[in-house]
Amino acid sequence: MNPPRTDARRHHDPDVRGFASDNYAGAHPEVLAALALANGGHQVAYGEDAYTENLQQVIRSHFGPTAEAFPVFNGTGANVVALQAVTDRWGAVICAESAHINVDEGGAPERVGGIKLLTVPTPDGKLTPELIDRQAYGWEDEHRAMPQVVSIAQATELGTVYTPDEMRALCEHAHAHGMKVHVDGSRLANAAATLDVPMRTFTNAAGVDLLSLGGTKNGALFGEAVVVLNQDAVSHMKHLRKLSMQLASKMRFVSVQLEALLARDLWLRNARHANEMAQRLAEGVRAVHGVEILHPVQANAVFARLPHAVTERLQKRFRFYFWDEAAGDVRWMCAFDTTEDDVDTFVAALKEEMAR
Ligand SMILES: Cc1ncc(COP(=O)(O)O)c(C=O)c1O
Repeated sequence: MNPPRTDARRHHDPDVRGFASDNYAGAHPEVLAALALANGGHQVAYGEDAYTENLQQVIRSHFGPTAEAFPVFNGTGANVVALQAVTDRWGAVICAESAHINVDEGGAPERVGGIKLLTVPTPDGKLTPELIDRQAYGWEDEHRAMPQVVSIAQATELGTVYTPDEMRALCEHAHAHGMKVHVDGSRLANAAATLDVPMRTFTNAAGVDLLSLGGTKNGALFGEAVVVLNQDAVSHMKHLRKLSMQLASKMRFVSVQLEALLARDLWLRNARHANEMAQRLAEGVRAVHGVEILHPVQANAVFARLPHAVTERLQKRFRFYFWDEAAGDVRWMCAFDTTEDDVDTFVAALKEEMAR
Protein backbone atom coordinates (compact mmCIF):
# COMPACT_ATOMS: atom_id res chain seq x y z
CA MET A 1 0.00 0.00 0.00
CA ASN A 2 1.29 3.48 -0.81
CA PRO A 3 1.93 5.70 2.20
CA PRO A 4 -0.92 8.20 2.75
CA ARG A 5 -0.46 11.47 0.89
CA THR A 6 0.45 14.52 2.92
CA ASP A 7 0.66 18.17 2.06
CA ALA A 8 3.11 18.74 4.89
CA ARG A 9 6.72 19.51 3.97
CA ARG A 10 9.87 18.72 5.89
CA HIS A 11 11.24 21.85 7.53
CA HIS A 12 14.41 20.49 9.07
CA ASP A 13 17.45 18.38 8.29
CA PRO A 14 16.85 14.96 9.90
CA ASP A 15 20.59 14.24 9.93
CA VAL A 16 21.42 17.09 12.30
CA ARG A 17 21.63 16.18 15.98
CA GLY A 18 23.18 17.99 18.92
CA PHE A 19 23.71 17.52 22.63
CA ALA A 20 21.21 20.06 23.96
CA SER A 21 18.55 17.73 25.30
CA ASP A 22 17.15 14.25 25.00
CA ASN A 23 13.92 16.10 24.18
CA TYR A 24 15.47 17.39 20.95
CA ALA A 25 15.31 13.84 19.55
CA GLY A 26 12.33 12.67 17.54
CA ALA A 27 10.23 9.61 18.31
CA HIS A 28 11.54 6.09 17.91
CA PRO A 29 10.25 4.44 14.70
CA GLU A 30 8.78 1.53 16.73
CA VAL A 31 6.75 4.05 18.72
CA LEU A 32 5.52 5.69 15.53
CA ALA A 33 4.56 2.25 14.15
CA ALA A 34 2.61 1.53 17.36
CA LEU A 35 0.76 4.83 17.00
CA ALA A 36 -0.26 3.90 13.46
CA LEU A 37 -1.46 0.53 14.76
CA ALA A 38 -3.65 2.19 17.38
CA ASN A 39 -5.19 4.49 14.78
CA GLY A 40 -8.46 3.84 12.98
CA GLY A 41 -11.85 2.89 14.30
CA HIS A 42 -13.39 4.28 17.45
CA GLN A 43 -12.19 3.60 20.99
CA VAL A 44 -13.68 4.79 24.23
CA ALA A 45 -12.21 8.15 25.20
CA TYR A 46 -10.56 9.24 28.47
CA GLY A 47 -8.80 5.98 29.29
CA GLU A 48 -11.41 3.26 28.93
CA ASP A 49 -9.77 2.04 25.71
CA ALA A 50 -8.10 -1.27 24.93
CA TYR A 51 -4.60 0.26 24.81
CA THR A 52 -4.78 1.82 28.26
CA GLU A 53 -6.19 -1.43 29.64
CA ASN A 54 -3.31 -3.35 28.17
CA LEU A 55 -0.83 -0.79 29.47
CA GLN A 56 -1.96 -1.63 33.00
CA GLN A 57 -0.81 -5.21 32.50
CA VAL A 58 2.51 -4.07 31.08
CA ILE A 59 3.02 -1.74 34.04
CA ARG A 60 2.20 -4.55 36.48
CA SER A 61 4.75 -6.78 34.75
CA HIS A 62 7.39 -4.17 35.61
CA PHE A 63 6.20 -2.87 38.95
CA GLY A 64 4.16 -5.70 40.48
CA PRO A 65 0.48 -6.43 41.00
CA THR A 66 -0.37 -3.30 43.01
CA ALA A 67 0.90 -0.88 40.37
CA GLU A 68 -1.52 1.33 38.49
CA ALA A 69 -0.64 3.71 35.65
CA PHE A 70 -2.27 7.06 35.00
CA PRO A 71 -1.06 8.24 31.58
CA VAL A 72 -0.49 11.99 31.26
CA PHE A 73 0.85 14.39 28.65
CA ASN A 74 4.17 15.48 30.10
CA GLY A 75 6.64 15.18 32.94
CA THR A 76 5.70 18.39 34.71
CA GLY A 77 2.08 17.26 34.69
CA ALA A 78 3.04 13.84 36.02
CA ASN A 79 4.96 15.44 38.90
CA VAL A 80 2.22 17.94 39.73
CA VAL A 81 -0.51 15.28 39.70
CA ALA A 82 1.58 12.78 41.68
CA LEU A 83 2.65 15.27 44.36
CA GLN A 84 -0.90 16.53 44.88
CA ALA A 85 -2.06 12.95 45.42
CA VAL A 86 0.26 12.55 48.42
CA THR A 87 0.08 15.95 50.12
CA ASP A 88 -2.57 17.74 52.13
CA ARG A 89 -3.32 21.43 51.62
CA TRP A 90 -0.97 22.18 54.49
CA GLY A 91 1.72 19.82 53.24
CA ALA A 92 5.22 20.32 51.83
CA VAL A 93 7.59 18.31 49.65
CA ILE A 94 11.29 17.99 50.43
CA CYS A 95 13.49 17.91 47.33
CA ALA A 96 16.99 18.73 46.11
CA GLU A 97 17.56 22.39 45.26
CA SER A 98 18.52 21.29 41.74
CA ALA A 99 15.32 19.20 41.31
CA HIS A 100 13.34 19.71 38.13
CA ILE A 101 10.22 20.36 40.22
CA ASN A 102 12.08 23.27 41.83
CA VAL A 103 13.97 24.85 38.96
CA ASP A 104 12.42 23.80 35.68
CA GLU A 105 8.67 23.55 36.05
CA GLY A 106 7.79 27.24 36.04
CA GLY A 107 6.58 27.04 39.61
CA ALA A 108 3.82 24.58 38.61
CA PRO A 109 4.09 22.43 41.76
CA GLU A 110 3.59 25.58 43.84
CA ARG A 111 1.13 27.48 41.65
CA VAL A 112 -0.87 24.66 40.05
CA GLY A 113 -0.44 22.06 42.78
CA GLY A 114 -0.40 24.55 45.65
CA ILE A 115 2.50 22.66 47.21
CA LYS A 116 5.28 24.21 49.23
CA LEU A 117 8.71 22.89 48.23
CA LEU A 118 11.37 22.61 50.93
CA THR A 119 14.70 22.47 49.14
CA VAL A 120 18.11 21.18 50.17
CA PRO A 121 21.42 21.94 48.42
CA THR A 122 23.23 18.79 47.33
CA PRO A 123 26.68 18.28 45.82
CA ASP A 124 25.50 15.86 43.13
CA GLY A 125 21.71 16.15 42.89
CA LYS A 126 21.17 13.28 45.32
CA LEU A 127 19.41 13.49 48.68
CA THR A 128 20.58 11.42 51.64
CA PRO A 129 18.81 10.77 54.96
CA GLU A 130 21.09 13.41 56.52
CA LEU A 131 20.21 15.97 53.85
CA ILE A 132 16.50 15.19 54.23
CA ASP A 133 16.82 15.98 57.94
CA ARG A 134 17.75 19.57 57.12
CA GLN A 135 14.10 20.07 56.23
CA ALA A 136 12.36 17.17 58.02
CA TYR A 137 11.16 18.81 61.20
CA GLY A 138 8.33 20.86 62.63
CA TRP A 139 5.39 18.56 61.97
CA GLU A 140 3.52 19.99 64.95
CA ASP A 141 4.39 23.60 64.16
CA GLU A 142 1.49 25.31 62.42
CA HIS A 143 3.84 28.08 61.25
CA ARG A 144 5.65 25.67 58.99
CA ALA A 145 4.35 23.81 55.93
CA MET A 146 4.23 20.18 57.06
CA PRO A 147 6.88 17.93 55.41
CA GLN A 148 4.78 15.07 54.04
CA VAL A 149 6.71 13.86 51.01
CA VAL A 150 10.28 13.37 49.86
CA SER A 151 10.66 13.70 46.11
CA ILE A 152 13.84 12.52 44.41
CA ALA A 153 14.75 12.11 40.76
CA GLN A 154 16.15 8.86 39.38
CA ALA A 155 18.30 9.59 37.38
CA THR A 156 18.89 13.05 38.89
CA GLU A 157 19.06 16.38 37.13
CA LEU A 158 22.85 16.11 37.30
CA GLY A 159 23.00 12.73 35.60
CA THR A 160 23.72 10.79 38.78
CA VAL A 161 21.96 7.59 39.87
CA TYR A 162 20.88 6.30 43.28
CA THR A 163 21.80 2.68 44.04
CA PRO A 164 18.94 0.40 45.23
CA ASP A 165 20.47 0.53 48.74
CA GLU A 166 20.49 4.33 48.71
CA MET A 167 16.86 4.35 47.59
CA ARG A 168 15.93 1.89 50.35
CA ALA A 169 17.69 3.98 53.00
CA LEU A 170 15.89 7.13 51.81
CA CYS A 171 12.49 5.42 51.80
CA GLU A 172 13.03 3.91 55.26
CA HIS A 173 14.06 7.28 56.60
CA ALA A 174 11.12 9.13 55.02
CA HIS A 175 8.61 6.50 56.14
CA ALA A 176 10.00 6.51 59.67
CA HIS A 177 9.04 10.21 59.76
CA GLY A 178 5.60 9.47 58.31
CA MET A 179 6.55 10.93 54.91
CA LYS A 180 5.87 9.36 51.53
CA VAL A 181 8.35 8.98 48.70
CA HIS A 182 7.83 10.18 45.15
CA VAL A 183 10.31 9.51 42.36
CA ASP A 184 10.59 11.77 39.33
CA GLY A 185 11.42 9.01 36.88
CA SER A 186 11.61 11.08 33.77
CA ARG A 187 14.82 9.07 33.14
CA LEU A 188 13.99 5.97 35.18
CA ALA A 189 14.93 3.78 32.21
CA ASN A 190 18.40 5.31 32.09
CA ALA A 191 18.87 4.56 35.78
CA ALA A 192 17.75 0.94 35.32
CA ALA A 193 20.13 0.56 32.38
CA THR A 194 23.02 1.85 34.47
CA LEU A 195 22.20 -0.29 37.50
CA ASP A 196 21.43 -3.29 35.28
CA VAL A 197 18.46 -4.30 37.43
CA PRO A 198 14.70 -4.27 36.81
CA MET A 199 13.02 -0.94 37.57
CA ARG A 200 11.10 -2.52 40.46
CA THR A 201 14.37 -3.24 42.31
CA PHE A 202 14.89 0.41 43.14
CA THR A 203 11.24 1.50 43.25
CA ASN A 204 8.67 -0.91 44.79
CA ALA A 205 11.26 -3.11 46.41
CA ALA A 206 12.94 -0.05 47.92
CA GLY A 207 9.68 1.33 49.31
CA VAL A 208 8.81 4.08 46.78
CA ASP A 209 5.13 5.04 47.00
CA LEU A 210 4.60 6.52 43.55
CA LEU A 211 6.52 7.73 40.57
CA SER A 212 6.41 9.80 37.43
CA LEU A 213 7.46 7.40 34.70
CA GLY A 214 9.08 9.00 31.67
CA GLY A 215 8.29 8.16 28.08
CA THR A 216 9.28 11.23 26.10
CA LYS A 217 13.02 11.15 26.76
CA ASN A 218 13.00 7.41 26.18
CA GLY A 219 11.69 7.60 22.60
CA ALA A 220 8.02 8.53 22.83
CA LEU A 221 6.51 11.36 20.82
CA PHE A 222 5.06 12.60 24.09
CA GLY A 223 3.55 10.97 27.12
CA GLU A 224 4.42 9.85 30.62
CA ALA A 225 2.50 8.13 33.39
CA VAL A 226 2.06 8.55 37.08
CA VAL A 227 2.57 5.04 38.44
CA VAL A 228 1.06 4.43 41.85
CA LEU A 229 2.87 1.63 43.66
CA ASN A 230 1.35 1.98 47.12
CA GLN A 231 -2.39 2.43 46.71
CA ASP A 232 -2.78 3.35 50.40
CA ALA A 233 -0.49 6.35 49.96
CA VAL A 234 -2.60 8.25 47.41
CA SER A 235 -6.06 9.60 47.04
CA HIS A 236 -8.23 10.83 44.18
CA MET A 237 -5.71 10.29 41.38
CA LYS A 238 -8.33 10.32 38.63
CA HIS A 239 -9.90 13.56 39.80
CA LEU A 240 -6.53 15.20 40.30
CA ARG A 241 -5.38 14.24 36.80
CA LYS A 242 -8.44 15.85 35.23
CA LEU A 243 -8.32 18.88 37.51
CA SER A 244 -4.67 19.33 36.55
CA MET A 245 -5.54 19.28 32.82
CA GLN A 246 -3.60 16.05 32.24
CA LEU A 247 -6.47 13.79 31.20
CA ALA A 248 -6.07 12.97 27.50
CA SER A 249 -9.34 12.40 25.68
CA LYS A 250 -7.66 10.21 23.04
CA MET A 251 -5.66 8.42 25.69
CA ARG A 252 -5.05 5.38 23.52
CA PHE A 253 -2.32 7.35 21.74
CA VAL A 254 -0.43 8.04 24.96
CA SER A 255 -0.88 4.50 26.25
CA VAL A 256 0.18 2.78 23.07
CA GLN A 257 3.46 4.69 23.04
CA LEU A 258 4.24 3.60 26.58
CA GLU A 259 3.25 0.06 25.66
CA ALA A 260 5.59 0.14 22.67
CA LEU A 261 8.46 1.18 24.92
CA LEU A 262 7.70 -1.07 27.88
CA ALA A 263 6.04 -4.23 26.58
CA ARG A 264 9.34 -5.70 25.47
CA ASP A 265 12.78 -4.17 25.70
CA LEU A 266 12.64 -0.98 23.66
CA TRP A 267 12.79 1.14 26.84
CA LEU A 268 16.00 -0.61 27.86
CA ARG A 269 17.60 -0.64 24.42
CA ASN A 270 16.99 3.10 24.06
CA ALA A 271 18.23 3.94 27.54
CA ARG A 272 21.29 1.72 27.26
CA HIS A 273 22.22 3.29 23.98
CA ALA A 274 21.85 6.86 25.30
CA ASN A 275 23.93 5.96 28.36
CA GLU A 276 26.62 4.31 26.24
CA MET A 277 26.87 7.41 24.09
CA ALA A 278 27.30 9.53 27.26
CA GLN A 279 30.10 7.19 28.39
CA ARG A 280 31.76 7.48 24.99
CA LEU A 281 31.44 11.26 25.14
CA ALA A 282 32.85 11.42 28.68
CA GLU A 283 35.78 9.24 27.68
CA GLY A 284 36.53 11.45 24.70
CA VAL A 285 36.21 14.63 26.75
CA ARG A 286 38.49 13.32 29.51
CA ALA A 287 41.25 13.06 26.94
CA VAL A 288 40.94 16.75 26.06
CA HIS A 289 43.33 18.80 28.15
CA GLY A 290 41.70 21.69 30.06
CA VAL A 291 38.15 20.35 30.15
CA GLU A 292 36.84 19.21 33.52
CA ILE A 293 33.99 16.72 33.91
CA LEU A 294 31.88 17.82 36.86
CA HIS A 295 29.76 14.89 38.05
CA PRO A 296 29.95 11.11 37.81
CA VAL A 297 28.53 10.16 34.42
CA GLN A 298 25.93 7.59 35.41
CA ALA A 299 23.09 8.15 32.94
CA ASN A 300 22.88 10.02 29.62
CA ALA A 301 24.24 13.42 30.70
CA VAL A 302 27.75 14.81 30.79
CA PHE A 303 28.43 18.03 32.70
CA ALA A 304 31.69 19.83 32.04
CA ARG A 305 33.50 23.08 32.71
CA LEU A 306 35.36 24.75 29.89
CA PRO A 307 36.45 28.25 28.87
CA HIS A 308 33.59 30.53 27.80
CA ALA A 309 35.15 31.39 24.46
CA VAL A 310 35.41 27.69 23.59
CA THR A 311 31.77 27.08 24.53
CA GLU A 312 30.62 29.97 22.42
CA ARG A 313 32.58 28.81 19.37
CA LEU A 314 31.37 25.23 19.83
CA GLN A 315 27.77 26.35 20.18
CA LYS A 316 27.99 27.80 16.67
CA ARG A 317 28.62 24.25 15.44
CA PHE A 318 26.48 22.11 17.81
CA ARG A 319 23.40 22.78 19.91
CA PHE A 320 23.94 22.52 23.69
CA TYR A 321 23.25 24.68 26.71
CA PHE A 322 25.14 26.38 29.47
CA TRP A 323 24.09 24.85 32.81
CA ASP A 324 25.72 27.58 34.90
CA GLU A 325 26.99 30.30 32.62
CA ALA A 326 28.82 32.24 35.32
CA ALA A 327 30.87 29.17 36.24
CA GLY A 328 31.36 28.07 32.63
CA ASP A 329 29.45 24.82 33.21
CA VAL A 330 27.73 23.14 30.28
CA ARG A 331 25.47 20.12 29.92
CA TRP A 332 25.68 17.63 27.08
CA MET A 333 22.80 15.18 26.75
CA CYS A 334 22.73 12.01 24.69
CA ALA A 335 19.54 10.52 23.29
CA PHE A 336 18.39 7.17 21.97
CA ASP A 337 19.34 8.31 18.47
CA THR A 338 22.77 9.81 19.21
CA THR A 339 25.34 8.02 17.07
CA GLU A 340 28.98 7.15 17.73
CA ASP A 341 29.81 9.39 14.83
CA ASP A 342 27.93 12.31 16.45
CA VAL A 343 30.00 11.85 19.60
CA ASP A 344 33.33 11.46 17.83
CA THR A 345 32.71 14.49 15.62
CA PHE A 346 31.80 16.56 18.67
CA VAL A 347 34.87 15.46 20.64
CA ALA A 348 37.10 16.26 17.66
CA ALA A 349 35.53 19.73 17.43
CA LEU A 350 36.02 20.27 21.17
CA LYS A 351 39.67 19.30 20.84
CA GLU A 352 40.09 21.67 17.91
CA GLU A 353 38.43 24.58 19.70
CA MET A 354 40.44 24.00 22.90
CA ALA A 355 43.67 24.09 20.88
CA ARG A 356 42.88 27.39 19.14
C1 LIG B 1 14.14 15.28 35.74
C2 LIG B 1 13.00 15.76 34.89
N1 LIG B 1 11.76 15.66 35.38
C3 LIG B 1 10.70 16.02 34.66
C4 LIG B 1 10.85 16.52 33.40
C5 LIG B 1 9.57 16.85 32.70
O1 LIG B 1 9.51 17.70 31.74
P1 LIG B 1 8.35 18.08 30.75
O2 LIG B 1 7.24 18.68 31.54
O3 LIG B 1 9.04 19.03 29.89
O4 LIG B 1 7.88 16.84 30.04
C6 LIG B 1 12.12 16.69 32.85
C7 LIG B 1 12.32 17.29 31.50
O5 LIG B 1 13.28 17.87 31.15
C8 LIG B 1 13.23 16.29 33.63
O6 LIG B 1 14.49 16.43 33.16
